[in-house]
Amino acid sequence: MKEDIIKIAIAGVGNIASGLLQGITYMKTYEDQKKKLLHPKLSSFEVKNIEIVAAFDVDKEKVGQDLTEAIFTPINSTPKFVELDKTGVTVVKGPLKDGLSGHLLKVITVSENKEEDVTQILKDTRAEILICALPTGAEEAVKTYAQASLDAEVAFVNCTPTLIASDPFWGKKFKKSNVCVIGDDLQSLAGGTVLHKGFLDVLKEQGVKIKDTYQLDVAGGLETLNTLDDDRKQYKREVKERTIQQSFGNDINLASGTSDYLEFLGNRRIGHFWILGEGFMGMPIKIDIRLETLDGPNAAGTLVDVIRATKVAINRAGSGPISSICAYGFKAPPVTTSRHTAHEWFNEYIEGIRTE
Ligand SMILES: NC(=O)c1ccc[n+]([C@@H]2O[C@H](COP(=O)([O-])OP(=O)(O)OC[C@H]3O[C@@H](n4cnc5c(N)ncnc54)[C@H](O)[C@@H]3O)[C@@H](O)[C@H]2O)c1
Repeated sequence: MKEDIIKIAIAGVGNIASGLLQGITYMKTYEDQKKKLLHPKLSSFEVKNIEIVAAFDVDKEKVGQDLTEAIFTPINSTPKFVELDKTGVTVVKGPLKDGLSGHLLKVITVSENKEEDVTQILKDTRAEILICALPTGAEEAVKTYAQASLDAEVAFVNCTPTLIASDPFWGKKFKKSNVCVIGDDLQSLAGGTVLHKGFLDVLKEQGVKIKDTYQLDVAGGLETLNTLDDDRKQYKREVKERTIQQSFGNDINLASGTSDYLEFLGNRRIGHFWILGEGFMGMPIKIDIRLETLDGPNAAGTLVDVIRATKVAINRAGSGPISSICAYGFKAPPVTTSRHTAHEWFNEYIEGIRTE
């Protein structure tokens, strides 16, 4: 295996997969763009060193297709940023379990192909990391891929809000098997959660007493359709709200999450931020802002750092949850800290100053 290549597999060929594959190709095609990254080179790895070697999905339109074609299936709404050659990686059918909810089953037909053995494919392709990008709330399916990752001794990166890295049961299992686990619930590069926390942190540092705040999104991607199911919507909201509450406690009125699905928005996510606080002498302070982003590239921007850092962890024979990588790139990490400290930990880990 060429030393500088990071071989990854992905479960769920949706908008994150599209952002990731396009992002890798984009960085290969437009070399000068790398200087705009937070980490043009992370340890010795560039984004172009990431290679997708296996992909799993259950959608009839994606299974059996080359990954390049599968990411542009119309149900994925991430726009085309770059021309792609065929990858030679065919999307295979993984275990369905509870992957598709009521709303997703109305728009996705499950492939009738044979369900493949995930562990065997991970071993055969010599994948080093499995990225789990299944829909929110697919608990059983996420755990099935996590177990396959363990069995194949392949690091597991969990983009979904199902708790794996932060669940002590799974954390110990990975640790005992000497396999890294990173998660949970990927934090987009410039997404609603990180910005909401950022605004609130600055106000708190300046002595403003926060009273009420919400950060509510409307979006048009498949994942938002999925979270129209009440239990799945609640699942995502709880993770987002917990992230804020960990810094601000329960004495603020808080709501955070996706409030509606608007198909015509495609991959766009429109976030509304509202903050009401009290400054000196009770002076009212109001923030009312709107943010517009694209989900696929926003997620991939964080993921390319997480993947390279996970490879560093593998090279150092890391095992179990790696706190610094989890805190840097995820909304529900095993150890929570401020954004500023998370960035410090991450850079210290890459430099070898921190051990986890
Ligand atoms: N900016 C972001 O997009 C972002 C940010 C943070 C977290 N996340 C999380 O990442 C996950 C993926 O997001 P996405 O936007 O790529 O989702 P998506 O809905 O676009 O794609 C999900 C894919 O998983 C497939 N799938 C469903 N069940 C499966 C199974 N059992 N096995 C294999 N594939 C299966 C679907 O067919 C679909 O292709 C979600 O859990 C989401 O909450 C996304």
